[in-house]
Amino acid sequence: MRVVSGIQPTGGLHLGNLLGAILRWVRMQDEAQCLFFLADLHALTVDVDPLSLRANVREMAAALIASGIDPAKSTLFAQSAVPAHPELAWILMCTARMGWLNRMTQFKDKSGKNRESSSVGLFTYPVLQAADVLVYRATHVPVGEDQKQHIELANDIAEKFNHDMGTDFFPHIEPMIMGPAARVMSLRDGAKKMSKSDASDQSRINLTDDAETIALKIKRAKTDPEPLPSESEGLEARPEARNLVGIYAALMDTDHAHVLKQFGGQGFGAFKSQLADLVVEKLAPIASETRRLLADPAHVDSVLRDGARRAAALANPIVDEAERLVGFLKV
Ligand code: TYM
Repeated sequence: MRVVSGIQPTGGLHLGNLLGAILRWVRMQDEAQCLFFLADLHALTVDVDPLSLRANVREMAAALIASGIDPAKSTLFAQSAVPAHPELAWILMCTARMGWLNRMTQFKDKSGKNRESSSVGLFTYPVLQAADVLVYRATHVPVGEDQKQHIELANDIAEKFNHDMGTDFFPHIEPMIMGPAARVMSLRDGAKKMSKSDASDQSRINLTDDAETIALKIKRAKTDPEPLPSESEGLEARPEARNLVGIYAALMDTDHAHVLKQFGGQGFGAFKSQLADLVVEKLAPIASETRRLLADPAHVDSVLRDGARRAAALANPIVDEAERLVGFLKV
């Protein structure tokens, strides 16, 4: 079992990233060989300025370590420091079909009305994502629900490559999308996912928000007038209630039913105030540890350097073999 996952260093981390991905990565570190990276090549697909990209990579690396990613157990690195990713991506770009990429909903969402002026990289983004995983012949990819389509595409690409080359070189990738927070929703609209690109900061909880801001955002979070149900089925047509219960459950590493056993029948007032306390209790140490780590950027950089070296050692022979399989004369 080899686990790989990545996160884009654009904007800060929010509660959706933490619950949908990062905390689950942390819990996997003792069970499998894990590689986690800052997807800075992916960040280039939209406009970023060089200064903030550099700063964001370092800040996010620090935040991941502060959240519990242990560089002694997991390999943590910046995607751009391992050229095997874009090397394999080129080969896979020649495997993937236009029609497959045309179906990617994230490209449609992100390009919107600006399709013609979007970067080519934004369109081919999912192929690089497939390479990120296949370059380690990873078997498991823990991600939030929004990445499901990209992982399915990676499997389609791997299968076509294997079929075309008459090999079983690339393994099947198991997307690990699970838990009560696989899709954390906006605090303002239960139909939209929590996202760093939402114009309203009230829609998300940032890992850097202070206690007061968190309490206020949760207090103002959209809900409905009914009390909380006693059983999980009662959350079905209530997306906002389901979201808040899911956040509570994920932070406690439990499920909806367990939370409803405690809060079922009560109004949102008391629940929201306990939820706010819980979020603050979990985020405050991450924020302060991130600040502590960033006081010594050279240390964070050395973790990334070491991670890149270890990642490259795994990826390089795999790219070599893929190149041999497609017929490059490797002299
Ligand atoms: P990104 O940077 O948007 O998000 C990082 C991780 O956080 C999860 N996530 C969420 N989970 C639950 N609820 C939410 N509201 C929420 N928002 C984000 C994402 O599902 C993801 O797991 N394309 C990827 C980065 C990437 C990648 C990869 C991931 C590049 N290469 C290879 C896995 C494997 C992305 O933009 O994630």
